Amino acid sequence: MAKVTVGPMPYMNVMPTVIVGANVKGKPNYMAVAWATVACMAPPMVCVALNKERYTVQGIEENRTFSVNIPSAAQVVEADHCGLVSGKKTDKSKVFSTRYGKLKTAPLADECPVNIECKLFTAVDCGSHRLYIGEVAEIHAEKSCLTDGKPDIAKVQPIVYAQATYYGVGKEIAKAFSAGKKYPEK
Ligand SMILES: Cc1cc2nc3c(=O)[nH]c(=O)nc-3n(C[C@H](O)[C@H](O)[C@H](O)COP(=O)(O)O)c2cc1C
Repeated sequence: MAKVTVGPMPYMNVMPTVIVGANVKGKPNYMAVAWATVACMAPPMVCVALNKERYTVQGIEENRTFSVNIPSAAQVVEADHCGLVSGKKTDKSKVFSTRYGKLKTAPLADECPVNIECKLFTAVDCGSHRLYIGEVAEIHAEKSCLTDGKPDIAKVQPIVYAQATYYGVGKEIAKAFSAGKKYPEK
């Protein structure tokens, strides 16, 4: 392969599009987030990288709880809106219908088929962004999106983010932890 250097940048090939929710001054606020992933298996943890200036950050620091909501393709307009405007200037509390779960202070965006309730485990200051690691207290999932009791990507229809563009999920190409069994010995 003919490789060239393209310079250091916060690059990852594909990312999810999630909605991070937090109560700021007693009101739900939602923001779009692409820098999100799993942080730990036991105990279960997820993490999001948030610019310290985000309004949502104030709510996470205030309550030490937040939600990670997984929108489906049907919510792409609402999701993008939550990334275009800040709660500092625009009230985003009505973009989604809010419910509360176990933690009481992590607003759950009801229209999103999956809601992950998080209790702040720790935050790591990285520079412009702070990595918020949340212990998963509960996951709320729309019944019709489950297969064998777990959220099914084909039913959730999550939004993939890459190159400032939203994509749907593509077709399955192989089973993980299985395809490699065909690797020919060299
Ligand atoms: C698709 C998309 C992904 C985004 N990902 C992030 C992210 O990972 N971290 C972040 O700090 N901001 C991210 N943003 C920007 C925030 O969503 C945006 O600044 C938002 O207005 C913040 O809202 P708030 O000030 O009400 O918290 C993203 C925006 C979009 C549209």
